[in-house]
Amino acid sequence: MAIKLPPLKKSSKFNQGEWHPLSWIDHEINQLPPYPDVNELQKVYDELRFLPPLITSWEIEALKQKLAEVSAGNAFLLQGGDCAETFNACNAPKIVNLLKVLLQMSFIMIHEMGTPVVRVGRIAGQYAKPRSKDYEEVGGEKMLNYRGDLINSIEPDKEARQPDPQRMVTAYNKAALTLNFLRALSDEGFADLQHPEQWELDFMKNNVYYKEYEQMVHSINKAVSFMESITPNQFNTLHKVDMYTSHEALNLYYDAAQTRRVPRRTGWYNLSSHMVWLGNRTRSIDNAHAEYLKGIQNPIGIKVGPPFDRDEILRLIQKLNPAHEAGKIVIITRFGIKEVEKDLPGLIKAVNREGFPVVWSCDPMHGNTFATTENVKTRNFDDILDELKATFAIHRSEANYLGGVHLELTGDNVTECVGGANGLNEAGLKRNYETYCDPRLNYEQSLEMAFLVAKEWNEGYKR
Ligand code: PEP
Ligand code: CO
Repeated sequence: MAIKLPPLKKSSKFNQGEWHPLSWIDHEINQLPPYPDVNELQKVYDELRFLPPLITSWEIEALKQKLAEVSAGNAFLLQGGDCAETFNACNAPKIVNLLKVLLQMSFIMIHEMGTPVVRVGRIAGQYAKPRSKDYEEVGGEKMLNYRGDLINSIEPDKEARQPDPQRMVTAYNKAALTLNFLRALSDEGFADLQHPEQWELDFMKNNVYYKEYEQMVHSINKAVSFMESITPNQFNTLHKVDMYTSHEALNLYYDAAQTRRVPRRTGWYNLSSHMVWLGNRTRSIDNAHAEYLKGIQNPIGIKVGPPFDRDEILRLIQKLNPAHEAGKIVIITRFGIKEVEKDLPGLIKAVNREGFPVVWSCDPMHGNTFATTENVKTRNFDDILDELKATFAIHRSEANYLGGVHLELTGDNVTECVGGANGLNEAGLKRNYETYCDPRLNYEQSLEMAFLVAKEWNEGYKR
């Protein structure tokens, strides 16, 4: 249900009729409940507006250029991370493990596919969630649903479930801490990750692909040693492991407060994240989220799944990227294994007919969620893989380039998705089920998926 928010005070610098970070305020908005304390909201908004930016416009433009390479078929996008980051999980092991699994996945892909990989984490800001129901009942009491730590608390308490503006400041701080550590790790401290002999693959010994992994690790190792011997300074310090950040632009107050103009560039930048995306449930073309996103320079993901209107998607792409800039729009399809054959071919044809230069990415997670008989939310590794395979096949038959995957995953050994070569079953889900929201691939399932994505990609695109 769409809710209209009370207006915030606009800065007098904005001209009437011109886009500005709050022009969405006049539009219908989905998935963001009103804040009960509007004065507090105003105070927090003004505080956030003047805090230093988390990232720079240079980095955003660099990512856009890399995504332009993806849309031209010269690189591959790996986007992944938690469904919902939580404030409690802002700690060293979680951040290290996520960076580690994404880097390892990207090395597998680079090695197997022979193409550059652009890494984008769902990290340092992925704190807000769309929900299918506004309310839930706990112990006979009706309360607002949990919508991510950016908005309210998961605690099943009526008060704690009210949207609290202070959470935006906490989110900003946690994102800054996360990013600070990520930058430090990618700059210097993570050289061991280039060394696959330290990948700790032992626990994968039962995996049907173990032999292939082992061989691959061996040959990556050889390549790394060779590179180190010819360019020791550049390689030893791992000086540029590029890792970009992304989140769903859902709580527009958070994103708008960090949307700024920068010197010597035109336009506005959301400086809270390199890339943001529009969720499947917030993409109505005339509503607030599309209005906000049309004004920023960052690369934008558009999630497309059922139900959707093909013409509306075309108009949305046009609205968000009227200049048809390459690297600006990433279409992230998430139809589910049951719908993908029916929905995807027509969408590809329609977008290509318009000549839009988009990156096509596949999110095989969100259309394949189900609840077990014990009501545990899960996904089956085989369904995820089957949607990926079907998506690759459809793009191939349309002579189109599938340039990316979007996965919910963690570097930890959680038990949230069933299947994979080690055959986690429903009974095993309870062992280490941590997610507050959607089930993620664990460390081993993620590496296996990277390997299988590379195999699929090679079927059609290997040069
Ligand atoms: C998500 O990416 O966590 C999500 C909610 O996705 P979608 O908007 O595709 O449902
Ligand atoms: Co999710």
